[in-house]
Amino acid sequence: MRAVQTVKEIREALKPVRSSGQVIGLVPTMGALHAGHEKLIQTARKECGVVVVSIFVNPLQFGPKEDYARYPRPLEADLEVCRRNGVDLVFAPSADEMYPLPQLAFTEVTRVSEGLCGAFRPGHFRGVATVVLKLFNIVQPDRAYFGEKDMQQLAVIRRMVADLNVPVEIVPVATVREADGLAVSSRNQYLDAEQRRIAPVVFRALREAERLIRAGEKDVAKVRQSAMQILNEAPVRAEYFEVVNPEDMQPVAAVTGSVRIAAAVWVGTTRLIDNVLV
Ligand code: PAJ
Repeated sequence: MRAVQTVKEIREALKPVRSSGQVIGLVPTMGALHAGHEKLIQTARKECGVVVVSIFVNPLQFGPKEDYARYPRPLEADLEVCRRNGVDLVFAPSADEMYPLPQLAFTEVTRVSEGLCGAFRPGHFRGVATVVLKLFNIVQPDRAYFGEKDMQQLAVIRRMVADLNVPVEIVPVATVREADGLAVSSRNQYLDAEQRRIAPVVFRALREAERLIRAGEKDVAKVRQSAMQILNEAPVRAEYFEVVNPEDMQPVAAVTGSVRIAAAVWVGTTRLIDNVLV
């Protein structure tokens, strides 16, 4: 495995790979790698000749009051996770390498990015879409792997690629969970023991909503009410709990086909997101 820090180095390392016709897989991450990231890497490893992992905590996608400064950056441990999972190349640029000039060009995916997390994190998905397009242009992968845990992000990237004819195949990977249902996340390490004990309530509320829909409930207001009751009984604060169209992320009032149920919940000062597809 080779780890490089500059755009020039990663492009040069990939030149012979590309001309040999091998399939290049990219797994974009912000590091602090965990079992969820490992699942993405392992999926890429099975499907691609060469696996590239990017590790970059992207300042453009954090709001001024968000956790950019305190976001964990355990680079040595991350490189070990990559090595263990058979990664070929790690691209871990500095912020100056990715943004040598003040960024003036952005990628915006309207509608899909406006509700849910987008409503509470202004500019977040613009930052995500912009950095992902930059990574696609730097690495030029054939395939790129994204977790369903961040389903709105996945929907934004899919729509960006479709609308802008980006020649990358987007591969979704199912959410990896702890034994008690909590979706694995780099931010789980902010939770203290008591908060960690409470956190699975998010998945429990989603499962209750799923159960009602599978039992035939079509009225989203009723589904929301039952799920919110579970959240309200716990010492957490729901930011949103929505039932949306899985493609464009628009809220639905009645369940007529496949839907995504999505929640963002504050446990203390930690914001957790999760979702299920029904
Ligand atoms: P990060 O939060 O590090 O996540 C990197 C990838 O891992 C994302 O595609 C995310 O959906 C996936 N992932 C995280 N937790 C997961 C879990 N429990 N199960 C399955 N997949 C999981 O998402 C980002 O970074 C950034 O926004 C990025 C796309 C890298 C752009 O900066």
